[in-house]
Amino acid sequence: MTESPIQEPAEERYFELIEQPKYLIGSVAKMLRVNDHVVRDSINLMGLELQRDESRRKARLFSAENVFDIANFRRKRGLLSWDSPPATVVVYSAKGGVGKTTLAAELAVQWGFRGLRVLAIDLDTQGNLTQMMGYDPELEQDEEMPIDSRQLVEYNFGSLFTIPPVLPNPKPLADVLKMPYGANGPHLIPSDVTLANLEDALLNAQVRDFQVLRLLQRGLTKPTLQLDLSHYDIILFDAPPSTSMLTNTTLLASDLCISPVALDALSFKGLSILGGRLINMREQVGRAPAVVAVPTFHREHRRRVTKVMERLNTYYGDILSQNMVRETEEFKRSNVDVEMPISLAFPGSKTAVPDLQNLADEMLLRIKSIMGATSRETGGFDHA
Ligand SMILES: Nc1ncnc2c1ncn2[C@@H]1O[C@H](COP(=O)(O)OP(=O)(O)OP(=O)(O)O)[C@@H](O)[C@H]1O
Ligand SMILES: [Mg+2]
Repeated sequence: MTESPIQEPAEERYFELIEQPKYLIGSVAKMLRVNDHVVRDSINLMGLELQRDESRRKARLFSAENVFDIANFRRKRGLLSWDSPPATVVVYSAKGGVGKTTLAAELAVQWGFRGLRVLAIDLDTQGNLTQMMGYDPELEQDEEMPIDSRQLVEYNFGSLFTIPPVLPNPKPLADVLKMPYGANGPHLIPSDVTLANLEDALLNAQVRDFQVLRLLQRGLTKPTLQLDLSHYDIILFDAPPSTSMLTNTTLLASDLCISPVALDALSFKGLSILGGRLINMREQVGRAPAVVAVPTFHREHRRRVTKVMERLNTYYGDILSQNMVRETEEFKRSNVDVEMPISLAFPGSKTAVPDLQNLADEMLLRIKSIMGATSRETGGFDHA
């Protein structure tokens, strides 16, 4: 079939797949954790053209993209500092449904608000992170109603590898990458069921353990047009709960493993399995990530939760995060209604967002100390 040149203007050709919210200045200030006047000053200095809401006395309307553009501008002006070398972080637990994907998506956004350049990589063939960032991995091109190829999930993390015979032809990162909230927001390498090819390829590969580490190091230290990761501050993986080859090589490639522990269950089997795997890894290949266990689904005054916290403190106190994420309906609402992280969907949230902000800050401090960066500021990370 030959392709006919497309005449119509883009807006008519494509139908809108995700409708992203527009924010008033107060919400933007909350997201960036500054005052309204700081936002106003930034947009004036940037010369940012904004939409106006005619029905609200022409109030300025910001898109998510505008918010990250402002964060990026503030960073460039030295108002947000981050001088750590690029870090690789994986959100992983051997247990399913503990909030891994939720944390990965929210941390990517929160770190983006701090002006950090984050690449989130979906490692789960279910594509939950991909969905949470507004893409449908099942969506296929439709001849009658063509879809903007930027909305389609055609490639995944496996597309970057050269592991013949399963993965002979790598794709350039630019073809694989999604930018759900614009160039300055967190970037995404999406996933779909064909990511299973990467697992097959790894099982056949000669040097399996270091495949992910080697790819990342190449992209970070010897960037090429095909694969340039040198732009990123944090590469953040959302891993499935399986003990696959892919999660193994990703753990090995990571500096920090964030492991959510759901406090609604009286079991931290996930943590003990992870601990065992990492001990083996360190013995066998001489390297393993630092671990931080993050309590999620926390509820105050619940006997079971208190009991689990006590046990966590006793057995895993040295790797436990100071901050935790409370259980709240906001997460479920965000998933069902908007397919967008809460940090973007409900910036005024009184429970989830403060928890996520505190956790995002704590994780940055941990990353900073792991990466051994020397900082000009006390406390390392500051938001002016
Ligand atoms: N703190 C929380 N409070 C309430 N609901 C939450 C919280 N964190 C996550 N959830 C909800 O729990 C469900 C599972 O979360 P999520 O998909 O993040 O878990 P997961 O560990 O990635 O799961 P899987 O193992 O399947 O990959 C989702 O519906 C999510 O909205
Ligand atoms: Mg998940």
